[in-house]
This record gives sequence, structure tokens and C-alpha cells, in this order.
Amino acid sequence: MTTQDLTISFSLAGEVAVVTGAAQGLGQAAAAALAQQGADVACVDLDAERCADTVRLVEAHGRRALALGCDVSSKADVDAAAERIVAELGPISLLTTCAGVLTENVTAEQVREEDLDRLWDVNVKGSFHWAVAASRSMISAGHGRIVLVSSQAGLVSLPSQSAYSMSKGAVATMARSLAIDWAKHDITVNAVCPTFVWTPMAAPMLEIPEVLAAATRRIPLGRVGQPQDIGGVVAFLCSPAASLITGVVLPVDGGWTAGEPELPL
Ligand SMILES: NC(=O)c1ccc[n+]([C@@H]2O[C@H](COP(=O)([O-])OP(=O)(O)OC[C@H]3O[C@@H](n4cnc5c(N)ncnc54)[C@H](O)[C@@H]3O)[C@@H](O)[C@H]2O)c1
Repeated sequence: MTTQDLTISFSLAGEVAVVTGAAQGLGQAAAAALAQQGADVACVDLDAERCADTVRLVEAHGRRALALGCDVSSKADVDAAAERIVAELGPISLLTTCAGVLTENVTAEQVREEDLDRLWDVNVKGSFHWAVAASRSMISAGHGRIVLVSSQAGLVSLPSQSAYSMSKGAVATMARSLAIDWAKHDITVNAVCPTFVWTPMAAPMLEIPEVLAAATRRIPLGRVGQPQDIGGVVAFLCSPAASLITGVVLPVDGGWTAGEPELPL
């Protein structure tokens, strides 16, 4: 009987990653996690200078970092940034799209058209532009890992956030669609759906004690997320250990979408 090689690897050594929304929050945590596993990281945000802390985190892991200013909703900006990354760091093999926006809490009949457009432009088009730009390197290499950041709100609705939730549903659908189109190039595409996580985006909600208490009660594991909870999942989905996972829309939500924890049965 032959002995099977059962070795697994979580290493990202030799990979070149792009992280959008890298200046803070989930993007910063994803950049740090990818660098910790050995990837060089291009840190993309509206303003390159705001990525300085993230660059330091990446470099602290001994990896190369490049900060780039880019509005992800602009295809021209994205294509120019991708070209610069390939020239300076090498072909892109990993992509995580964390750039995103949330608009004000209003019921559906009060949603403004400009907010619908902004959510579509940044959350949906921004993810798609980057996936397509990164896919050029990935298709040439016959290898790539893409993790799109959707939201728990893309799976179960968030009250007074219909427009945001719809945009995140589109991101989840994008993961499945791209996974099918690019499977033949060994490009995996998955989406993660975080619950409330302590970041500058969610802090104004979580700093309201009643909101934090209600969210914590609703989560079976009894806590909201920390940015590294998402960074770790991103790094795993990019790793060789996850190479058979594609088209998955993965809740990272402490069990919120698994069910209601407090039915008095
Ligand atoms: N924090 C949460 O509770 C939570 C939960 C579920 C999903 N998400 C999603 O995760 C992603 C990251 O969220 P976060 O909490 O880290 O948010 P955040 O606001 O703290 O960070 C988002 C980053 O994206 C950047 N950005 C925004 N628009 C951009 C654009 N047009 N071009 C380039 N960069 C742009 C911002 O400058 C910012 O640095 C978002 O898509 C968000 O919707 C967050």
C-alpha cells in the first residue's frame, strides 16, 4: 500500500495580495493576517497616506507593502492601481475587497437615490472592478484566491438598511458567479459575511449600549466580532488548505444566522 502525503499548508509565502479598504477596520486586519502568513500586501484605500499604519503592520511581519490611493468605484483608478502593483510587487495572486460604505439608517421609503447609487458604486462595482483587474494576473498564472467582503446583512436583513443589505446580497451573488466563471483557471472566489465587528464603520452603532446589548444577545456565541476574527478567515480562504472551497458565502457571525438563541421553549 502506498502512503498518501497528508501534508497541509496555511502558508501564503510568495503570494502578492491586494487588500482594498486597507486603511482601517477589516481591511487593516486582513492585510496584517495575510502578511503574517507570508504574503506581500498592496494596501489600497481612498488615500494612500491613511494606509501608513497598515503598511507598518505588514512590514513588521517582514513582508513588502505598497500603499496606493484608489477610488474602487472608478474602473480607471482600479486598472491604474493594479498595473502599478504588478510593476512594483509582481503579479497579483490574492485579493480581498474590504472597501465599503454604509449609508444612514432609514426605512425603505426614505432611501435616497444618491445613496442607492453610492452603495452600488462602492460595494458592488468596486468589488467587481478589483476582481476583474486582479483576474488578469491570476488567469495568466492559472492560480488565484479572491475573498469578497459581503455582510451578515446580505443574508438576513438589517432593519432600516435595505439599500446596504441589497448591495451586500449582490456581493454574495458575485462570489458565486465569479467562482463558476474562473474555476477553470484555479481561481477560487468566496464571500465572507461578518456580523457586527468593532471597526470605525460599526463603532457608532456598537457604542450605543442598547444596540451592543441587543446584538450580543442575538449572537449565540455571546460576543460581537473583532477585526482579527475576519482577518483569520480571509487568510484561511487564501491558503492552500482551502483550495477546494469556492463559491461559498460564509457567515462569520457567532451563529446569528444559524438561528434565534432566545426562544422561551
Ligand atoms: N464592521 C462591521 O460590522 C461589518 C459587518 C459586515 C460587513 N462589513 C463590511 O466590511 C467591509 C469593511 O468594513 P469596515 O467595518 O472595516 O469599514 P470601515 O469604514 O472601518 O473601513 C472601510 C474602508 O474602506 C475605505 N473606502 C470606502 N470607500 C472607498 C472607495 N470608494 N475606494 C477605496 N476605499 C474606500 C474607507 O476609506 C475605509 O478605510 C465593508 O464592506 C463593510 O460593509 C462590516
